[in-house]
Amino acid sequence: MVLLITLRQIWFLSLTESHSLRYYYTSMLNSNDFPKFIHVGVLDDVQITYFDSVIKKDIPRQPWMQTSLKDQYWEQETQRLIDRQRLSLTNVEIAQRRTNSSKEGLNYLQYTSGCEVLEDGTVTGKRQYAFNGQELISFDLEHSIWVAASPYAVSTQNKWNSNKDDNEYKKQYTKRICVDWLNTYRGYGQAFLNRKVVPEANVYYTNGHNVNLHCLVTGFYPRSINVTWFADGVPVSGTHSTGILPNHDGTYQIRVTFQIEPGDDRNHVCHIEHSSLPAPLKIIWEKGGSVVPGMIGAIFVLVLLIFCIAAGIYYRKHKAEVKKRFPSCFTHGESDNLFSSIHTSQSSPCILQQVYWDRT
Ligand SMILES: *[C@@H]1O[C@H](CO)[C@@H](O)[C@H](O)[C@H]1NC(C)=O
Ligand SMILES: *[C@@H]1O[C@H](CO)[C@@H](O)[C@H](O)[C@H]1NC(C)=O
Repeated sequence: MVLLITLRQIWFLSLTESHSLRYYYTSMLNSNDFPKFIHVGVLDDVQITYFDSVIKKDIPRQPWMQTSLKDQYWEQETQRLIDRQRLSLTNVEIAQRRTNSSKEGLNYLQYTSGCEVLEDGTVTGKRQYAFNGQELISFDLEHSIWVAASPYAVSTQNKWNSNKDDNEYKKQYTKRICVDWLNTYRGYGQAFLNRKVVPEANVYYTNGHNVNLHCLVTGFYPRSINVTWFADGVPVSGTHSTGILPNHDGTYQIRVTFQIEPGDDRNHVCHIEHSSLPAPLKIIWEKGGSVVPGMIGAIFVLVLLIFCIAAGIYYRKHKAEVKKRFPSCFTHGESDNLFSSIHTSQSSPCILQQVYWDRT
């Protein structure tokens, strides 16, 4: 036991980044095309589990979650979430009634819970409810009490706070059990979670109202990074950062920008410190040289690609729907091309616009 605690403390001390385990519960009324209840587990920005009311199963979202956890785990989680679903759907009905929200509209209750271990080992955590995007109530971990954020939740706050044992249990759960699971899952995924991916970096300027120098760093993992502009070896003050943003592939990006004064002849260098790099990466801003055309070219190709994919998905989805609703549109030669059939078959009874009107 003592050994375990000591090991855990060493583990915390060796942390250089914060880590989190978060659960998101969404329950919805009148969500026609969407499952009524969805539950997602997220470890350090990586989705690890998924459950919804249609599949009625908790499933792994990472291969290392699947291989590390026995069937029994998934069965127990499934049962817990089926119970949770029943409770959540009752809660969303209560919230709808209490807030006098339209019975026909989409009404949704979001609940998030989880824990985070900060760089210095401090544990924080969250339990929070929101209804139709407005915060209702959240748990104050330090004081073990629920705090209503909306007048609709005051009666709930009083009811829940009358159960002091339960509140204390919730606090202990967040501070200990949740953190134990966080460490367990991190252990299972350590090869994946501890991987290092080297950033790509680019410096470029944009010339609008002001001239701005940008340092764009992308594709790196883990998340922690330092990006600093230097002018003749001195850190530039007044830089603006986008903050660290997620990429679609599990890596991250950041852009740090500052406004350069006309006639500033100093040497501008972007320094990048990241755990994947043996030494800071230094990208020198070549005066007069421009990375902009290359960047714009790359962005243009990317935007074009995204557009084509989106158009493709949209087209396929709508074609299937139109086919179902207006089979007569598809009985002739043009049947494979939705768009040409709109224009060519004027005498046909298929009124395609209707599909879109119905949807709005
Ligand atoms: C609830 O909504 C109905 C219809 O919109 C309205 O007549 C009624 O006064 C509302 N009640 C409350 C308590 O806001
Ligand atoms: C960023 O800078 C801080 C302060 O100098 C340092 O402690 C930290 O290790 C740096 N982070 C990385 C990823 O190099």
